[in-house]
Amino acid sequence: MQIKSAEFIVSNSEVSKCPSENLPEYAFIGRSNVGKSSLINMITGRNKLAKTSGTPGKTQLINHFKINKNWFLVDLPGYGYAKVSKSTKKEFQSFITDYFKQRKALVCTFVLVDSRHTPQKIDVEFMEFLAENEIPFAIIFTKTDKLKPRAITQNIAKYEAEMLKEKFEYFPTYFTSSSANKNGRDDILNFIETINKD
Ligand code: GTP
Ligand code: MG
Repeated sequence: MQIKSAEFIVSNSEVSKCPSENLPEYAFIGRSNVGKSSLINMITGRNKLAKTSGTPGKTQLINHFKINKNWFLVDLPGYGYAKVSKSTKKEFQSFITDYFKQRKALVCTFVLVDSRHTPQKIDVEFMEFLAENEIPFAIIFTKTDKLKPRAITQNIAKYEAEMLKEKFEYFPTYFTSSSANKNGRDDILNFIETINKD
């Protein structure tokens, strides 16, 4: 799919204030600093569309970007970042949870996981939450430029084993990505295009 346009629409912390047009949307979630905003920029080919930072906790709101005038990409705050205060964390958690439970236009969620790490409880638990609420999701293993192909394959196999050991009956659709070398862009866009056509 070609990206002909990508526009920032709105940032907010309330699901009720998200865009009311009934266009399909795709959300990016995952731990702080995993590379959600960078991936949105890489996929759209717009370097400054979503704000990125080396310091975790950059994205704090629900951000809607309209793509090709007919679907949305949604950049969300990260979870699992210890440095924000407890009350801020709770507030974050409740509006993120509301977003997932209430947003009817949400077609598929991409859960981003750092390809360098072994399975983390917080990620697996988040995917359990999605599954329990019947929210379709795929995994994206990020920052693949940081390790060798063999190590990526090994880490993905560990992930699969861990998820099958937990409550999952099958390993979800997954992608690998690098915002540094544009790995994964076409696969992710083709996946979205296929769903949008259905
Ligand atoms: P929060 O908004 O804080 O939750 O973070 P985020 O998940 O949106 O991460 P962000 O895109 O802001 O990137 C965090 C850091 O990781 C930045 O320093 C990015 O440059 C870096 N980064 C993101 N993706 C990649 C990647 O694919 N490869 C490498 N090497 N660095 C990356
Ligand atoms: Mg971000």
